[in-house]
Amino acid sequence: MHVSLDEAASLLKNGHVVAVPTETVYGLAASLHQPKAIERIFSLKKRPSNNPLIIHLADAGQLSSFCDSFPHGFESLAHAFWPGPLTVVIPVLVQNIPEKVRAGLPTAAFRVPASLLTRQLLVASGPLVMPSANLSGTPSATQAAHVEQDFGSNFPVIDGGECINGIESTIIMYQERIWKILRLGALSPEAFIPVLGYEPETAGADKGKAPLCPGQLYRHYAPMARLIPITKIPAESSNIVIIGFSDRQYPDNYRVINLGNSKYPEEAAHNLYTTLRQIDDEKLEKVYIDIHFPETGLWRTLKERILKASQS
Ligand code: TXA
Ligand code: MG
Repeated sequence: MHVSLDEAASLLKNGHVVAVPTETVYGLAASLHQPKAIERIFSLKKRPSNNPLIIHLADAGQLSSFCDSFPHGFESLAHAFWPGPLTVVIPVLVQNIPEKVRAGLPTAAFRVPASLLTRQLLVASGPLVMPSANLSGTPSATQAAHVEQDFGSNFPVIDGGECINGIESTIIMYQERIWKILRLGALSPEAFIPVLGYEPETAGADKGKAPLCPGQLYRHYAPMARLIPITKIPAESSNIVIIGFSDRQYPDNYRVINLGNSKYPEEAAHNLYTTLRQIDDEKLEKVYIDIHFPETGLWRTLKERILKASQS
């Protein structure tokens, strides 16, 4: 059910959950001050309770009620990338943030979204927690129709059209005196070099230790179909479907689902989740996906998402 920005703001203030577009993906929003609505997010998504939520703010100034100091370099990052697809995990004044939102951690994740519509809502509603608006384990929602697919046509959603980035924010955290990427996202690792003076490493889970980003534990972005990443064309003859690029040649007997042009990773990122949902809508059983692309920039995020989606 499509709702206006004003209707959404009043639903949120009254303790309801509303789906909201952002420049990355649609979020399932609840007010930070509505514990029941926050609980409902976890049950709606079937999300494990040890997976914390991102707090979305209208502007970085609002952080002062949650933190009394910031890690080295934080101001430069906020100045360079907010509003935008960057999420920063920082130590917080735990008494000011519900435990459920932090999943009991001494830190919280924050983001100031770039989408004007999202920020207008945040001004009206106050801080919102928002995980991606999909059932846990399915591809994230990048259109209002995807939200309705997962949560039903009566679920309140602000229809903001297709998300520009189409892929989640990059999550970063300061640890052992350097910034580390906890989740690759719409902002490429190289984008940090002019701001930090180095490219943050991607933090994997250390053996025997809890992962820095609990969400990375779970199977993600997965279609029902068997998704097979390839860099060479397989020798097969019938019923072949491949997710590929518009500027590449595939054998005549292949059905090609177009991910975009291989020169523009932004295009592939924008289309990825819609494409993964499409192959399920069509009930395809086996689909190849062309991952013959570079190991740099946004391509790295794309490869990570595709490899995760293809894990059975
Ligand atoms: O682009 C996005 O980030 C979207 C839009 C709606 O803003 N949101 C999103 O939320 O992707 P979600 O819940 O699907 O992913 C948030 C990730 C999870 O993997 C979670 O574990 C991690 O952020 N996270 C949240 N708080 C954290 C914390 N304190 N420490 C480490 N990881 C945290
Ligand atoms: Mg998610």
